[in-house]
This record gives sequence, C-alpha cells and structure tokens, in this order.
Amino acid sequence: MAGHHGTGECRIVHDAAPSALPLAIKLHILVGTMTGTAELVAQELELAFGDENVAIELTLMDGLDHRVFERPGIFLICTSTYGQGEVPDNAKALYADLLSSRPDLSGVRYGVFALGDSTHVGTFCFGGKRFDEALGGLGATRFGPVFEHNASGGTLPEDVALEWFPEWIAEVRKQLNAEAAASQKAVLHPLKS
Ligand SMILES: Cc1cc2nc3c(=O)[nH]c(=O)nc-3n(C[C@H](O)[C@H](O)[C@H](O)COP(=O)(O)O)c2cc1C
Repeated sequence: MAGHHGTGECRIVHDAAPSALPLAIKLHILVGTMTGTAELVAQELELAFGDENVAIELTLMDGLDHRVFERPGIFLICTSTYGQGEVPDNAKALYADLLSSRPDLSGVRYGVFALGDSTHVGTFCFGGKRFDEALGGLGATRFGPVFEHNASGGTLPEDVALEWFPEWIAEVRKQLNAEAAASQKAVLHPLKS
C-alpha cells in the first residue's frame, strides 16, 4: 500500500470520516403526575417531535421500579411536585425503589423537565430535583440543566416544553455524536510496532 513503510499498522476498518448523519435516538419520557399536566407535556412532545430521528416512548411512572433504566435509550424525567416538595403519588414507588435498591446507573443518560409552582417557597420543583439528585447519586449523567416550569409564571408547561425541547435534544445529539466520534477515534490510532 502506498505510504505504508512497515512502521506500524492501523486498525482502520473503513476509511469513512466519523458519520455526520443524525443518530436515531430512543427517548423514554417517564411521567410523574397527579392531575395530568406532566402527562400532557409528554404527549405534546411525543406528537410534535416523535419521528424516525427521535423515537419517543411515553411511560407513566405507575408500577415502575429501577429496572426501567435498563431499557436501551435515554430518559426524560417529566414530573410535577406535590405535598411539601414530594414526588407525585404515581412516582413514589419508583423514587423509593431507586433510593433503596441503589442500582448502578453509570450507563444511564437523562434530562429533567420539572413542573412546580413558585408559591411553594422552599420546595419549588422538588419532584424533578429529587429525581435528579437520586439519579445523579447513582452514577447517571444528565443532559443539560434541570428545566423548571412555574405554574404561577403565566405560561403553559406544554407550550414551554415545545420551545425547550429542540434545543435540549440538539444538545443531546451533539454530545452523543461527539462521544461516538471519540470512541471511533479510540480504535483508529496507529498501533506501536
Ligand atoms: C396540593 C399541592 C401541592 C403542591 N406542592 C408543590 C410543591 O411543594 N412544590 C412545587 O414546586 N409545586 C407544588 N405544587 C404545584 C404542582 O406541582 C404544579 O401545579 C404542577 O404543574 C402540577 O402538575 P401535575 O398535574 O402533572 O401533577 C403543588 C400543587 C398542589 C395542588
């Protein structure tokens, strides 16, 4: 081969540059809700953005345990806050199971869309923040900051979510592409002879 002087070999399997094609992303939206607002947010996201590039699956948190995070794909925690900064009733079992089972979630990637009301001073959006703390403590990695929707802010969470999502998923895609390119590079370096 021209240019090959026998000084080393390369593990190149094919010579294409790292793909610039969009990655197909599987996104699980896990919904914690008391009166359906967070579910409406998730439904709107699924309707507006679910396609061949982002396969969105909406799952209410009822009856889930930590094994939901074994599903391939990434996760969006979409949850409201109730009581004194508690997760909603349908999210309680999952949240408690994460804290008691303490699974290793180091391979898990997630984002958080938290719903709350700033009139609950001191516990604003704690439902989403509790999940974030639990997942982070178990080794999972968050994409972007926790988004906080304020029910007293004069906006509808589903409208705000539709504006927020494209930027969030673009950041997700950017990070996943960068990681894919980096891992490709890791197997393309010349071997020392
Ligand atoms: C009884 C009750 C308690 C609430 N407690 C909190 C709270 O501690 N912190 C907060 O940020 N929001 C709190 N909220 C506001 C809800 O999280 C918010 O209205 C949310 O949009 C409801 O979404 P959902 O219909 O999906 O449950 C509370 C609402 C109610 C009715």
